[in-house]
Amino acid sequence: MGFKEGFLWGGATAANQYEGGWNEGGKGLSAADMMSNGTHTTPRQITRTLEEGLYYPNHKASDFYHRYKEDIALMAEMGFKTFRMSIAWTRIFPKGNETEPNEEGLKFYDNVFDELHKHGIEPLVTISHYEMPFYLTENYDGWVSREVIDMFVRYCEVIFNRYKDKVTYWLTFNEINCGTMPMGNYLSLGILNEGTRDFTKQIDIPQLRFQALHHQFIASAKAVQLGHSINPEFKIGCMIAYMQNYPYTCYPQDVLKCQKLKEMGNFYCGDVQVRGEYPYFAKRYWEENDIHIKMEPGDEEILKNGTVDFYSFSYYMSNCVSHDPNLEGTAGNLMGGVKNPYLESSDWGWQIDPDGLRYTLNELYARYQIPLMVVENGLGAFDKVESDGSIHDEYRIDYLRKHIRCMEEAVNDGVDLIGYTPWGCIDLVSASTGEMGKRYGFVYVDSDDLGNGTFDRSRKDSFYWYKKVIESNGKDLD
Ligand code: BG6
Repeated sequence: MGFKEGFLWGGATAANQYEGGWNEGGKGLSAADMMSNGTHTTPRQITRTLEEGLYYPNHKASDFYHRYKEDIALMAEMGFKTFRMSIAWTRIFPKGNETEPNEEGLKFYDNVFDELHKHGIEPLVTISHYEMPFYLTENYDGWVSREVIDMFVRYCEVIFNRYKDKVTYWLTFNEINCGTMPMGNYLSLGILNEGTRDFTKQIDIPQLRFQALHHQFIASAKAVQLGHSINPEFKIGCMIAYMQNYPYTCYPQDVLKCQKLKEMGNFYCGDVQVRGEYPYFAKRYWEENDIHIKMEPGDEEILKNGTVDFYSFSYYMSNCVSHDPNLEGTAGNLMGGVKNPYLESSDWGWQIDPDGLRYTLNELYARYQIPLMVVENGLGAFDKVESDGSIHDEYRIDYLRKHIRCMEEAVNDGVDLIGYTPWGCIDLVSASTGEMGKRYGFVYVDSDDLGNGTFDRSRKDSFYWYKKVIESNGKDLD
């Protein structure tokens, strides 16, 4: 028992938070390029132009653009079997609506993929990870416009053809279910409604948001079909931010509220992408929220024919749900909730729940019965560099160890789990706060929240620990 042979151990990143080189090689401005830095108490600002006096942390990020060889060598040293990264759409189509791709951008990823293969590392590529061309936000209202589907499919066609012999594993949209929440407007759907500036308080028009999400579903399904026609060996997955919620008590109103939240938060998107149709509960939600999805003839068939090969998700924490508005709250990835008295929290207030991962894996496998992959998990924490340069991140090791144990339990339960790529394997910029100080990595990047530093890399204690984990296929967790 335990992890099967060929289990895909690795790490995960996204271009906008890791790559840097924001204005090099012909790259255009992405949604993330227009966001200033923040903290967990001061929200990031979304600006329509780059404003003097603001700092934009995604511009340089971790500078992978210039250091990819060194970084990939470090991943190889840890024994990575796979590396999750994203392609910046704006490197290939700087504005998004061009007909010809940017060769320099394509060449960059050729180099990255070649370097990975040189070290025996399989790329796992997210096609769109919170980095849609900003031009499309300004001129098309992001995914609200149906025209964007064709632009996205053109982008997919270019990268699928170009990398068909270098990449097998693809994810269409990162955390697509972010679009079911107001905070998904900008980064996920490219919608910047008049009056939005504060990332945490975006102006929300549910009708537009759910229509935009429908367009993403169609785009994803078309991409899956196209990918399989270009290379039948492609394995194309969905990616959901799995928000595990528990009823705070056994009071039936808590249980029902929790069920409803999970339906819309997790299953709405998963069901469309795995089963190829909207779930039964969608209709009532649309009616009650005055949402009218405009479907074109053929849309239902497109969804049916573009179901994914595997289900991938991020898992960081869990929350509780209660009918009582007066209970103590807690923060979380994309969504907060009610505090769970049994769990501890990270420095950013996310509740740490390894058992919840086993529960989630079983819940998902029972529902979908297709291979699962955990493509994000980890502890965002402050790290301290000692005078000799070492970094003793026991807390991170402890978090990951417990989650891996629970994954193994799920595998022993019978779940078909094919890979694990903890988030931010090399330190990168936080999506929610724009901080560099919220670190997830096995490798430390010498840069502070304002981009000061050498950007040199160094190995944390967790680096050596994870190397042993991979070497032993998850058996040696000490
Ligand atoms: C996920 C995203 O929501 O969580 C990543 O896919 C993000 O882009 C990660 O970085 C961790 O969140 P944060 O806010 O700590 O960066």
